[in-house]
Amino acid sequence: MKFTHSLKMYEDALGLIPMGTSTFSRNPNLYVIGASPLFIEKAKGCRVYDVDGNEFIDYSMSLGVINLGYADPRVNAAAKQGIDDGLVFTLSCPEESRLAAKLKQIIPCAEMVRFSKNGSDVCEGAVRLARNFTKKSKVITVGGYHGFHDWFIASTPRNKGIPAEMSAWVIPHNYNDLAAIATTIKAQAHEIAALVMEPVITVEPQEGFLEGIRRLTAEHNIVLIFDEMKTGFRLSLGGAQRYFKVTPDLACFAKGLSNGFPLSALAGKKSLMEQFGDEQCFFSASYATEKCSLNAALKTIEIIENEPVIEHIWKMGTILKEGLIRLVAKHGLEQIIKVIGLAPMQHLVFSPVDDLSVNEIRSYLQQECVKRGLLFVGYHHPSYAHQPKDIEDTLKIYDEAFGLLHKAIVGKDLKSLITGKPISAFGVRR
Ligand SMILES: Cc1ncc(COP(=O)(O)O)c(C=O)c1O
Repeated sequence: MKFTHSLKMYEDALGLIPMGTSTFSRNPNLYVIGASPLFIEKAKGCRVYDVDGNEFIDYSMSLGVINLGYADPRVNAAAKQGIDDGLVFTLSCPEESRLAAKLKQIIPCAEMVRFSKNGSDVCEGAVRLARNFTKKSKVITVGGYHGFHDWFIASTPRNKGIPAEMSAWVIPHNYNDLAAIATTIKAQAHEIAALVMEPVITVEPQEGFLEGIRRLTAEHNIVLIFDEMKTGFRLSLGGAQRYFKVTPDLACFAKGLSNGFPLSALAGKKSLMEQFGDEQCFFSASYATEKCSLNAALKTIEIIENEPVIEHIWKMGTILKEGLIRLVAKHGLEQIIKVIGLAPMQHLVFSPVDDLSVNEIRSYLQQECVKRGLLFVGYHHPSYAHQPKDIEDTLKIYDEAFGLLHKAIVGKDLKSLITGKPISAFGVRR
């Protein structure tokens, strides 16, 4: 398998685009440079085709954005109609209210909705609503990722360019650590405006965790915000809040909402949302009412409502997860690889061994999966387009790659077997 065009494009892109790409999670440093594709030309269903003409089974599904499958013809036709109608107008289009009404019908917390383009935008909007409503400033975060805006990134190691004072307003906590969160809330409730969390991250919630958070935030006048970017339209049509039966005050959606078309939504209680009716509590985007993406979202939701999309995602994910757990055991890799997370958004989590780093282990595994036609990223977002045969093929590839990984670890020659520049970055959720 050759990656000549990918390598050339990367070299050119580095001179034009810092990091070679505008999206952190598409950073070529998350791939073995020289032994993995770096640019994708096109995609269909669950298959992607790189710029060198190589074909791969994909499970990132564009970072969890695609739930029906790439280039779904029904969604694309609806989107094209929006383009032909003129795309974006001087005034709002009717589809904006139509989609808001649909979200109100399917998402438990949604009494009102606002749209934007990115996940980061709606997370920022949610925090602004919470701060204005409670007249408090601090925000608790719980282990997830909430976009690139200052309010959140200030609390992470990627905070250069943000005034240091801003980090004092964010209190990061670990997922599932209800006791520590309760302690913070009890001590600082008079200052805490919001608790923002992804309802599920790599790990699943322990029994009572989400309910405990709901109770504590309600008791202390703290706005509970679920960032459902990854869980929405994937765990259930109504997101994690419907799946776990825990209703937040506000929720943020994007990925999965429109099968890849750029659209995000902030939904929640009327008492909070209607603050945006006051022109002084501001949230706005020129492209928020762009009809191509609104149409795509309406069609995506219609398909999820009328076809067993969610059921299929769970089913394919379960077969894959059980197969991976079996293969990890078969190859004696239990100390190095754990398969965790709910079936629709599962992860392979790696531990270092001997003198091998996690990135070296991941690099070798990625290289061997890529050679066999699997675009390995270390997590799996099964889609409606993945069929049992795709999962079977994927497990065959993992079987061979895990076997080689075990051999390379025992043989102590893994480092020398990596044929490109090893993975050198970590994802946004380190
Ligand atoms: C949970 C979560 N929140 C927020 C974001 C930010 O979304 P965007 O990149 O569209 O701004 C992401 C993106 O990966 C996400 O996964």
